[in-house]
Amino acid sequence: MSNIVEQAFLKKYNTFGIDVKARWFSSFDSQSSLGEVLAAWPGPLLILGGGSNILLTRDFDGLVLRNEIKGIELVREDEQYVYVRVGAGENWHGFVQYALGRNWAGVENLSLIPGSVGAAPMQNIGAYGVEIKDVFYELSAYQLKEKKVYAFSLNDCEFGYRESVFKGRYKDQFVLLDVTFRLNKVPHFHTEYGDIRTELEKMGVQGLTIQAVSEAVINIRRSKLPDPAQIGNAGSFFKNPTVTVPKFEALKAAFPGIVGYPGPAGIKLAAGWLIEEGGWKGYRKGDAGCHARQALVLVNYGHATGQEIYDLSEEILQSVKAKFGVELEREVNIIF
Ligand code: FAD
Ligand code: EPU
Repeated sequence: MSNIVEQAFLKKYNTFGIDVKARWFSSFDSQSSLGEVLAAWPGPLLILGGGSNILLTRDFDGLVLRNEIKGIELVREDEQYVYVRVGAGENWHGFVQYALGRNWAGVENLSLIPGSVGAAPMQNIGAYGVEIKDVFYELSAYQLKEKKVYAFSLNDCEFGYRESVFKGRYKDQFVLLDVTFRLNKVPHFHTEYGDIRTELEKMGVQGLTIQAVSEAVINIRRSKLPDPAQIGNAGSFFKNPTVTVPKFEALKAAFPGIVGYPGPAGIKLAAGWLIEEGGWKGYRKGDAGCHARQALVLVNYGHATGQEIYDLSEEILQSVKAKFGVELEREVNIIF
């Protein structure tokens, strides 16, 4: 099996820094090289981008296949928009910088999110009031069983909060090859997130630009989120849960400090607050921990196993359920 290596260490391929092995490892940089490698391997498969949203709980007894499809191409433009096709293996923040450099607006609030372009639609990445669905045009994806490429429109992707059809109904059925974004020639700023406005003021910004918004977002992220190069993590481990208005009122009566934001389906609670209030912030058991500044982020201080991080997440989940009657859902993809 050419191009497929046996026994690969995965520590440097996942931002949690979990030290496990893959039985086989390979990469692909085009649809045809993907087809070739799959023809040589009919067994279990794990598609990998930047490894910033996975928790590996054990050695992977199959083929880990890293997406390295590159390329950024302007495919069309009109008065208002540019349509840009990006290879799934491009780095997300690299693409954001490319857009900023050309004054193409829409992704500035999504600055500095780790990982690849191809994984971004998997969970409809979002931050500071913007989600990828807001700039998404279409994508192409390879169906593993049929060995055929399909185009997916915005509707086909069924995007939701940290959700898509690829994380749900079509889980493990498609490999995303490229994504086309529709970016604005004239910016529509999203500074409604309080943190952004405060940061822009602190920066002394007079005339608003997408570059300034990006810088503000980067400053906030650097102050809040641990850098995986320093300490292993995969960002928010859980999603922020939504509860009904009556449930929120009851919680508010019992816990006056509770943090919640009204949304279309009810009140979205800050899971970080629930976890902190449960006494977990800064907790550490061996090398698995709950971050001391951002309770929603679980961390690996060095040699934690994926199972230890998972067990800690289960303890937190059960304790939040017992205290608040709210069930947290994991955002990170657990690889069992
Ligand atoms: P991976 O971890 O490699 O893969 C994630 C999942 O997608 C896996 O199940 C994998 O099998 C699958 N997959 C990957 N590529 C493909 C493909 N081409 N085809 C099919 N399946 C594929 N997320 C947010 O939404 N907002 C944030 O603000 C945010 N902040 C973060 C901050 C930090 C410090 C970290 C570490 C993570 C953060 N994340 C955030 C999570 C993460 O960065 C995103 O989910 C990102 O899109 C993951 O990309 P990746 O390439 O690393 O995916
Ligand atoms: N909070 C606490 N204690 C904590 C952490 C948070 O009380 O330890 C409360 C605070 O009241 C704070 C509120 O929670 O005001 C919200 O916190 P923050 O603004 O840091 O956002 P978050 O809910 O922790 C979400 C996303 C992030 C995204 C930011 C900015 C989810 C699961 N997480 O985090 O996405 O970057 O908002 O938009 O929706 C990710 O998905 O990996 C991720 C990092």
